[in-house]
Amino acid sequence: MSKLLLKNVSKIYDNEISAVRDFNLEIKDKEFVIFVGPSGCGKSTTLRMIAGLEEISQGELWMDGKLINFIESKDRNLAMVFQNYALYPYMTVYDNLAFSLQIRNVPKKEIHKKVRETASLLQIEDLLWRKPNALSGGQKQRVAIGSAIIRQPNIFLMDEPLSNLDAKLRGQMRVELAKLHKELSTTIIYVTHDQTEAMTLGTKIVVMKDGMIQQIASPKILYENPRNLFVAGFIGTPTMNFIEAEVTTKNRRLYLEFNYKKIKLNDILNHTLYAKGYVNEKVIIGIRPNDIEIIADKEYKHADTFTIYPNRREILGAQANVYFDIGEKNYLVCVDTEDEIILNEAMQIRFNQEKLHLFDANTQENILYENKNTRSSK
Ligand SMILES: Nc1ncnc2c1ncn2[C@@H]1O[C@H](COP(=O)(O)OP(=O)(O)O)[C@@H](O)[C@H]1O
Ligand SMILES: [Mg+2]
Repeated sequence: MSKLLLKNVSKIYDNEISAVRDFNLEIKDKEFVIFVGPSGCGKSTTLRMIAGLEEISQGELWMDGKLINFIESKDRNLAMVFQNYALYPYMTVYDNLAFSLQIRNVPKKEIHKKVRETASLLQIEDLLWRKPNALSGGQKQRVAIGSAIIRQPNIFLMDEPLSNLDAKLRGQMRVELAKLHKELSTTIIYVTHDQTEAMTLGTKIVVMKDGMIQQIASPKILYENPRNLFVAGFIGTPTMNFIEAEVTTKNRRLYLEFNYKKIKLNDILNHTLYAKGYVNEKVIIGIRPNDIEIIADKEYKHADTFTIYPNRREILGAQANVYFDIGEKNYLVCVDTEDEIILNEAMQIRFNQEKLHLFDANTQENILYENKNTRSSK
């Protein structure tokens, strides 16, 4: 059993770099938690503070109801796997796996049993007598994971463990890690800068930027209801389109105006923007490329559609990416490859307003965040 609680944890390095600020997180037993964010946002620092490899500057770290700020790393019953595999080059795979048990004076027979079990779990039974330099990157990574799980730690910490592997192998290892988590039933904290990896692996994702937590949520909620502009742009591929706009009014109806275009808002958005005082204010529209409809009927014009001129098309298979400009900026809509698109000819599109996001142009907070939260919790 292992529960972890970080309360107002901060890290200021000696050079006065504030790497982690006021980090609050509760991790339940057997949870698979992901820390994700761009390089330098404080993911590794946080993980290393949990591991006891880095001093906590401020705040509290609790494990199973015990304050462990000053407990040494080796007494925290956790194991860590890094990006570079940290295997002993002169030892066989067998000895690499056995090492952490040997130094704890575990009886030989038991070591043998555990090495066999671990090797079978990770499908590396055939490699036990090889040395690390005779292994591929993926095999080395399995051995590194094996040597961490063999002592059955309460918490398993992984810092970008797959980033040295090629894309295909990364995909395979992701599936295996998810399986492994089920079989081991331990708590895993996993660090990555790759949002796809985070979305496919995690049940609880902590999105970080500049040392601060931006949002903690499931993949689905992060995608559908990002708390702010950063999360919206970081999560999801292809990236969300952002358009600077102004909320205007005519006959008590609200419109979004941008670059000589004007779209009429639906009742819900109309009501919300009135209620929150956004009339005549600047906002940023966020719309995912999949949430834009193209209007096939060339004659059709409606108050919520507008004209674009597609300037490039990339066929990906059943789907295609179509690019267009609004003002100086380039935008993307995903269409079916079958859809008729004539480049540089006028075309009507409509934003699916149920999926539209609106951000405050000053604070970059999601104006509709609470709305959606109450809607989805019903
Ligand atoms: N040992 C250190 N001394 C001083 N600054 C550090 C040290 N380690 C990391 N940093 C700084 O702390 C910030 C967070 O780094 P890190 O936790 O490694 O980020 P991430 O793992 O998200 O890429 C960065 O600005 C980095 O330069
Ligand atoms: Mg890092």
